[in-house]
Amino acid sequence: MFMYRNILVALTLGSTAALAAGPNLGIPVTQDDIAAWDINVLPDGTGLPPGSGTAAQGSDIFAVKCAWCHGVNGVGGTHHSLVGGEPLKGMGSSKTIYNFWPYATTIFDLVRRSMPYIQPRTLSNEEVYALTAYILAINDLIDEKDVMNAETLPQVQMPNRDGFVYRFPELMP
Ligand code: HEC
Repeated sequence: MFMYRNILVALTLGSTAALAAGPNLGIPVTQDDIAAWDINVLPDGTGLPPGSGTAAQGSDIFAVKCAWCHGVNGVGGTHHSLVGGEPLKGMGSSKTIYNFWPYATTIFDLVRRSMPYIQPRTLSNEEVYALTAYILAINDLIDEKDVMNAETLPQVQMPNRDGFVYRFPELMP
């Protein structure tokens, strides 16, 4: 019995030491690792990276990387049309960048994190600014010579900017 108890004590001590050392899985996360995933762009433009682009630059990139799904000039493709849209009438209405999206900054965020659909995160920030400018220009929301960057993009007024009603206005800043 005495020996048996000693073995139990030894086992307990051994497992405590093992726990203190940790299971030895994984590696510490560095700030660079986090930065690669920390790519949120907020409606007011917070998080927009350095860089810039125009619709003219975006047009060439769109033709190669986007048109085969979204159509030449953003219409008539196999996936979402990126141009225009009927005025919203109710929940059943088809929602587009033009008739629904309240912020232009969201276009940058979506394109950078998820397009091209089968090769996400392959575009440079410059390319994403240019493509965002292109999508805004084909919707007549900016001029094709306007330069989009961290300062100008949040200032673009989207048609449905004031179309959202806050459910809890008292919680808004
Ligand atoms: C292989 C097909 C494919 C390619 C190539 C592609 N997309 Fe898309 N795109 C999609 C699909 C599918 C969706 C809808 C995704 C969803 O709803 O989750 C989408 C959605 C979008 C939207 C949101 C539209 C909306 O009204 O909600 C934008 C903006 C967009 N794509 C831009 C681009 C740009 C810019 C490129 C080129 C860099 C590109 N896409 C390349 C398939 C594609």
